[in-house]
Amino acid sequence: MTILRSALYMPGINQKAMDKALTLDCDAVILDLEDAVSALKKDDARQLVKRQIENNDYGAKEVVVRVTDLNTKWGESDVAAVANVHIQAILVPKISEIRDINRMVELLDAYGSELPVWIMVETPLAIINVNELACQPRVSALVMGTSDLVSDLGAEHIEDRHNISYALQRSIMAARAFGKLILDGVHLDFRDLDSFHNICRLGRSMGFDGKTLIHPDQILVANQAFSPSEAELEKAKRLIDAWRSAQAQGSGVVELEGSLVESLHVEEAKRLLDFFPRPRTELINYPPDTGRFPRVLSPSFGNFLLNRWCIPLI
Ligand code: COA
Ligand code: MG
Repeated sequence: MTILRSALYMPGINQKAMDKALTLDCDAVILDLEDAVSALKKDDARQLVKRQIENNDYGAKEVVVRVTDLNTKWGESDVAAVANVHIQAILVPKISEIRDINRMVELLDAYGSELPVWIMVETPLAIINVNELACQPRVSALVMGTSDLVSDLGAEHIEDRHNISYALQRSIMAARAFGKLILDGVHLDFRDLDSFHNICRLGRSMGFDGKTLIHPDQILVANQAFSPSEAELEKAKRLIDAWRSAQAQGSGVVELEGSLVESLHVEEAKRLLDFFPRPRTELINYPPDTGRFPRVLSPSFGNFLLNRWCIPLI
């Protein structure tokens, strides 16, 4: 399973941002041909994105292109441009029904492309149909499009998001039921990292794998929020030890720190340690005392450490 704590969008027309993303520590980059590109620039952006991918190596980061939806005059050309370039997935907006996915899959098949499909869950109909959408075999990830959703609902952006919690939770259920990744929507107030931190923690507590982002400053915060803390990893180790010694003594019942441990907790602990052998909190601390960047570490040194940390062997 892929770790996807942070997926940074950038406009497919913004060369500087796409270059900068080569050095950033997000787990995925999403080169956008849809909403972040104006109608007048669609053709230029499509060529720019194609060239950018062909001429650059984004390393361990997943590279995803968000195409325009197939009901627009640009959709098919977008798919044609990226169907056979080296990316990890194509992100398809405005998916509401199975036939929207089928249409995209048929087009990819026609280009001989086996690209996985990530779907934007951003319409009321998508929320209603999310089980059927999530179980489509070609779909590997769900991405919440909360801006569109809030707008379509005639709702408002509220900090605790209780007004869209049904939609979020329903989508998470569907993703989990069918073994798909699920990313939370963007936080538009990108200069306020404190509120962003709270929103990330909320997202993680609901079950999201990670967060879609719009600005590089959000990366460290999301990476930390969607990684386990040192205390969580230590507890996972203690839990596995307690389980093993109980097994060795032939006991089926294990108690750890006043709680009953069941085999599902052991599996969960093992999964956690497999994916996150070391906590990020050793390296960064959010919220910082002052300024935007973590205490002690300069941004570039922080980035260096994070890069090192991402190598599973250390
Ligand atoms: N991806 C990569 N780099 C980005 C970036 C992004 N999404 N957003 C900003 N940067 C870069 C800038 O180019 C700048 O680089 P530099 O330090 O080399 O000069 C640096 O980060 C700091 O940027 P800053 O000046 O703080 O912001 P900005 O005014 O350049 O950009 C936005 C602000 C909101 C316009 C920009 O962040 C953006 O376009 N975000 C993505 C929007 C998007 O894709 N929307 C669609 C999905 S909702
Ligand atoms: Mg949208």
